[in-house]
Amino acid sequence: MTHVSVLQLSGITKRYEMPAPVWEKVTKQRVSVPSLIALDGIDIDLRRGEILALVGESGSGKSTLAKVLVGSVTPTTGELTYNGEPMPVPRGKDLTRRIQMVFQDPYSSLNPRISVRSLLSELLLLHRIVPRQQVRAECVRLLNLVGLDEDALDAYPSQFSGGQRQRIAIARALAVRPDILIADEPVSALDVSVQATILDLFDSLREELGLTILFIAHNLAVVQHLSQRVAVMYLGRIVEVADTDELFARPQHPYTRSLIASIPRMSGDSVNAAELLEGEPPSPIDVPAGCRFHPRCPVAVDACRSTDPALRTVPAGALSGAHEIACILDDPPPFVGADTAPHEKENR
Ligand SMILES: Nc1ncnc2c1ncn2[C@@H]1O[C@H](COP(=O)(O)OP(=O)(O)O)[C@@H](O)[C@H]1O
Ligand SMILES: [Mg+2]
Repeated sequence: MTHVSVLQLSGITKRYEMPAPVWEKVTKQRVSVPSLIALDGIDIDLRRGEILALVGESGSGKSTLAKVLVGSVTPTTGELTYNGEPMPVPRGKDLTRRIQMVFQDPYSSLNPRISVRSLLSELLLLHRIVPRQQVRAECVRLLNLVGLDEDALDAYPSQFSGGQRQRIAIARALAVRPDILIADEPVSALDVSVQATILDLFDSLREELGLTILFIAHNLAVVQHLSQRVAVMYLGRIVEVADTDELFARPQHPYTRSLIASIPRMSGDSVNAAELLEGEPPSPIDVPAGCRFHPRCPVAVDACRSTDPALRTVPAGALSGAHEIACILDDPPPFVGADTAPHEKENR
């Protein structure tokens, strides 16, 4: 199988300088202020027509990465390549149009005072997507694409449920005909009963429009039946990347194993990831030396305290693409409480 990379990230870092404490101004003494490393060397590519899931705990840098991709955050170092060309900074109108974002909270991301018709037509006119006389028909086409009908046109966001608002937010992102959609935890704020319908919508948009989608989630279970590949993030780094089936069948990084072990089973047994991991996630202001996961890793060895592992390729199942992990252990042993047997397929 050949894959065409549409967006490539190499060595992307994002560092936030922390403001000096107030008492520095009072005492006029310089103190060294640590910086916060939100992204610490991200290398990954988005392949045309895939849904790539990006999964990790809160604070691991997922939203920062999303903002780097849409151009609202400028990386401290690293390169972004779009269709083989370096991405210019600033991007310009046409490149900005091609990568669109859907946010977590459809309540705050839509202006309650603007009707659905106005929010869509504004964009269609601004980007000259269709001639003025076709704007209405195009709005209806967009609504149908996201599973809403014409009646929605003259309504306001407040008249819709959370799931419907998220559909409108998706229609708005699609209005400018992007190639790539970045969805930052788009179902996390929705009722569980609605989540699956929105996941289905992303799946059908990928299929019908050939969209490339980066789907961000803090929960691995959400993406199991949606994405083609999964990248797992921990404290500003990607620690494991593999095809979705491969990742669930043979998770290699101890962090991924703990995330998978914490997914509720059909049997009703479940373990909390927090119970499998030691301590709290460390702060990105004070990243542990060596492997950043070692203080919480149940299978860490001495070398993990000093070696900062880069992503490396490990053997994958026959039908799978590359499987990469950032861990020095080969086939790390399972740890107490973790069931690393292939995860049962559940129906959504
Ligand atoms: N503008 C900012 N200034 C300072 N720190 C930030 C800023 N944006 C994000 N961070 C920090 O960067 C880290 C990663 O945040 P984020 O990308 O939002 O993570 P996630 O989306 O995975 O929860 C967090 O520690 C967060 O506090
Ligand atoms: Mg986030």
